Amino acid sequence: MLGKILVTKPIFAEALDFLKSRTSIDANPEDRVLSRAELVARLQGKQGAVTQLTDILDREVLEAIPDIRILSNIAVGFNNVDIQTASRLGILVTNTPGVLTETTADFAWSLLMAAARRVVEGDAFARSGQWKAWGLQMLLGHDIYGKTLGIVGFGRIGQAMAQRAAGFNMSIQYFDSLPVPASAVPPGVKSVSLDALLSTSDYISLHVPLLPETKHLLNEKTFALMKPNCIVVNTSRGPVIDEKALARALRTGKIAAAGLDVFEREPEIEPDLLELSNAVLAPHIASASHETRSKMCMMAAENLIAGLEGKQPANLVNPEALVNRRQ
Ligand code: DGY
Repeated sequence: MLGKILVTKPIFAEALDFLKSRTSIDANPEDRVLSRAELVARLQGKQGAVTQLTDILDREVLEAIPDIRILSNIAVGFNNVDIQTASRLGILVTNTPGVLTETTADFAWSLLMAAARRVVEGDAFARSGQWKAWGLQMLLGHDIYGKTLGIVGFGRIGQAMAQRAAGFNMSIQYFDSLPVPASAVPPGVKSVSLDALLSTSDYISLHVPLLPETKHLLNEKTFALMKPNCIVVNTSRGPVIDEKALARALRTGKIAAAGLDVFEREPEIEPDLLELSNAVLAPHIASASHETRSKMCMMAAENLIAGLEGKQPANLVNPEALVNRRQ
């Protein structure tokens, strides 16, 4: 056996079996987030852990788990882990990139289309018994084909978003604070400044990680730059948008609609947003397909085992931890 590990919440059986055959497992069978105290207690004497984005591994927690050598997070985002502290302590941290790219882009498109064409409002109306006759001006939405899509963050998921937009004959523009290799930019896709993107796009989709620089990237000031028909989609992280400012922009018609999969204080949703019919809301499910979530679990399990075997895991997010990695 390679050591003792904690699996903080249930994962797919295939990944659990893979881990069971190689490690001694303490697996939380309950589908609930362990409290901070429980997490720290159950990580004592463990060399590794499979974590989820609901496990907060901040400095205080990391400093209280002296045996942990690797934390394998089942998500591409890893803002739930204090990477700087993990690296200082020699704890490897891994994520699950790539396997969820297409599924997440599919879902961002689902939100975009649902918000543009008022699918959720239409569903509620159709069920309500209020539909009395076909109406020429009933539930009018916005066209998608031929419009301008602005993608903020042109990494893997942003690029997958662009590929889909080509099928709708859209003009596609992106903003990224880092240089994007020319080979990753399809013909006709333009790089623009953030302000230009915000003021000229009909649809804006966010695909940036949560960093101090991206917190409240969309706020009162940036909503003011947008077109009144603009529809904003967020499948990245909730705090990238100032939710109160978004609710105001939606209520006052500064922008037309929003499709949101992520929220500032999940699972709590800003009450002002709950009241707005032009906000389509989903409970952080952009990568939630059977196929993708199973692949994410397996990838996390493989990362963990590689780390415990003393190898460099394929999806290490903090290579700087290797210099003082715990043995
Ligand atoms: C991630 O992977 O970061 C998503 O938010 C969950 O799939």
